[in-house]
Amino acid sequence: MKNMVTMVVVLTAMMTTTMLRMAKCELHYVGGGKIGWAPHVNFSQWSSHERFYVGDWLYFGFDKNMYNVLEVNKSSYENCIDSGFIKNITRGGRDVFQLTEPKNYYFLSGRGHCWEGLKLAINVLNDAQPSLPPLPPSTTSSSSSSSSSYFNAIQALLLSAATLWAIADYYKWNSD
Ligand SMILES: *[C@@H]1O[C@H](CO)[C@@H](O)[C@H](O)[C@H]1NC(C)=O
Ligand SMILES: *[C@@H]1O[C@H](CO)[C@@H](O)[C@H](O)[C@H]1NC(C)=O
Ligand SMILES: *[C@@H]1O[C@H](CO)[C@@H](O)[C@H](O)[C@H]1NC(C)=O
Repeated sequence: MKNMVTMVVVLTAMMTTTMLRMAKCELHYVGGGKIGWAPHVNFSQWSSHERFYVGDWLYFGFDKNMYNVLEVNKSSYENCIDSGFIKNITRGGRDVFQLTEPKNYYFLSGRGHCWEGLKLAINVLNDAQPSLPPLPPSTTSSSSSSSSSYFNAIQALLLSAATLWAIADYYKWNSD
């Protein structure tokens, strides 16, 4: 009995770790789709329906013959300056970028498309906070709704892990 309880506790802990890792690394499809990095998408509207945490990834899907993705600073973002960028994220048009710091990130497309609205500013938060109010419903995003259910699952898992620890402790206490 004790071994089985221990095994269940270990398995639960492993599952919890996996869930936490999954929750920590959400992939955000910029613009809300597989080819969302295109002019005339309202990126401030899109990002207002998303929550970005350290460890999350951005996915830029675009026509590489037309557009590119450059990480820039705030003033370059505001003035659509594509020289002296921080990082060139452009590869094949299905490019990912990991958000590694809790700060504001700025991206734009060069070749004049920034002026058509092809630019993105996001605020990356340090840690997932389960107590935050739910996000407003979004019509464009497919990924944002998943995070709260992760937290519910994690809470349930942590609770069951705690219960199992208590049971294991009880059996240990009584067999000594
Ligand atoms: C984008 O959407 C926001 C509100 O979601 C609005 O305030 C803003 O004017 C829009 N921008 C453009 C360029 O349409
Ligand atoms: C932002 O980047 C531009 C282009 O490299 C540079 O000229 C400018 O000084 C930078 N601004 C800040 C506040 O770092
Ligand atoms: C960004 O990198 C891509 C792929 O390496 C390259 O083709 C492109 O010329 C670069 N763009 C700029 C503005 O440096």
